[in-house]
Amino acid sequence: DWTPKSFVEESVAELKEKLGNDRVVLGLSGGVDSSVAAMLLHKAIGENLYCIFVNNGLLRKNEFSEVLEQYKGMGLNVKGVDASARFLDALAGLSDPEEKRKAIGGIFIEVFDDEAHEISDVKWLAQGTIYPDIIESVSATGGPSVTIKSHHNVGGLPDFMKLKIVEPLKALFKDEVRRVGASMDMDKELLGRHPFPGPGLAIRILGDITAEKVRILQEVDAVFIGNLRKWNLYDSVWQAGAILLPVNSVGVMGDERTYEKCVALRAVESTDGMTADWVNLPYEFLQKTSNEIINKVKGVNRVVYDISSKPPATIEWE
Ligand code: XMP
Repeated sequence: DWTPKSFVEESVAELKEKLGNDRVVLGLSGGVDSSVAAMLLHKAIGENLYCIFVNNGLLRKNEFSEVLEQYKGMGLNVKGVDASARFLDALAGLSDPEEKRKAIGGIFIEVFDDEAHEISDVKWLAQGTIYPDIIESVSATGGPSVTIKSHHNVGGLPDFMKLKIVEPLKALFKDEVRRVGASMDMDKELLGRHPFPGPGLAIRILGDITAEKVRILQEVDAVFIGNLRKWNLYDSVWQAGAILLPVNSVGVMGDERTYEKCVALRAVESTDGMTADWVNLPYEFLQKTSNEIINKVKGVNRVVYDISSKPPATIEWE
C-alpha cells in the first residue's frame, strides 16, 4: 500500500544507494515540487545536496528573501543568487510573450550553469519533476522546462544539463507530493502554495517590462493574495494572481483627473491547470480588495475581475 511515509522511507533508501557520496545540484523555485524534492534528497544525502535559488526579479513581493530564509531554516544547503538585474536587462524592450519566456529561460540557464560550475565535482542534476510534467508538454508547475528546450536548438547543451538526472517525484501527482511533504513535517504554507509560472510576473505584465511595473504588480498582488489569506479563501483557490494591463484609464482623485494603470485580478479553480473555472469570490471581498489596491498602490486607479474560464481563455494572459 502506498503511504507518504513508506514512500519517504523507500525513496531515501534508494537515493542513498544510487547517489552514494556523489554531489547533486538542484534548482529551488520556491514552489512545492522542488522544495519537496530537495527535502527528500536532503534526508538521503545531507550536505552533498547543493541547492540554488535564483531571484529573477519577477517573484512575488519579498518572496526571495522570505523563502530563502525558510529553506535555510529547513536545514538545506542552499545558495541564494540575486540575478534580478540580469533578467530585467535581458527583458528590456521585449513585449512578445514567447520572446520574454525565451529571454528568461536563457538567462536562467546562464546563471544556473555559472553556479553549478562553482560546485566542484558535481555528478547529478536533481529536478522536482512530477508525473503530470512528463505527460504534459508544458509544465504547469514551474521550472524552465519549455525555455530550456528552445535554448537547446540555438546553442549546445549547457554543462549542467550533461549531468546525470535524478527525479525522485516523477511518479507522483501534486496531491501526493503535498502529502509526502507533510509526512516530512514541512511547513503547511509552503506545501499549500499556489502554482506560479517559471517566468513569474513577466507574463503578468502585458507588454514590455520595467522595474516600476514590477513594483506596481508586486504591490497589487501582495494585497490580493494577502486578503485571500485573511479571508480564508486562499486554500479553496487553485491559483490566483494579478495582471498589469497595458492601458491607462481616466479616474478622479479629489479635484484632480488621473490617468493611471488598470489591473485585473484572476482566481481560478482547477485540478491540473488544463481546464479552469473562475472563482465566484464574495462581492464584499472584491470590493474591499479593490479599494485597498487603489488606495495603497500608487499608479493604479482601476481594478477589474477576470470572469473567463479555460477553455477558451487560459489561466495566464500571456
Ligand atoms: P495557462 O495560462 O496555459 O496556464 O492556462 C496553465 C498553468 O501553467 C502555468 N504556466 C506556466 N508555467 N512556465 C511555467 O512554468 C510558463 O511559461 C507558463 N505559462 C503558464 C500557469 O501559471 C498555470 O498554472
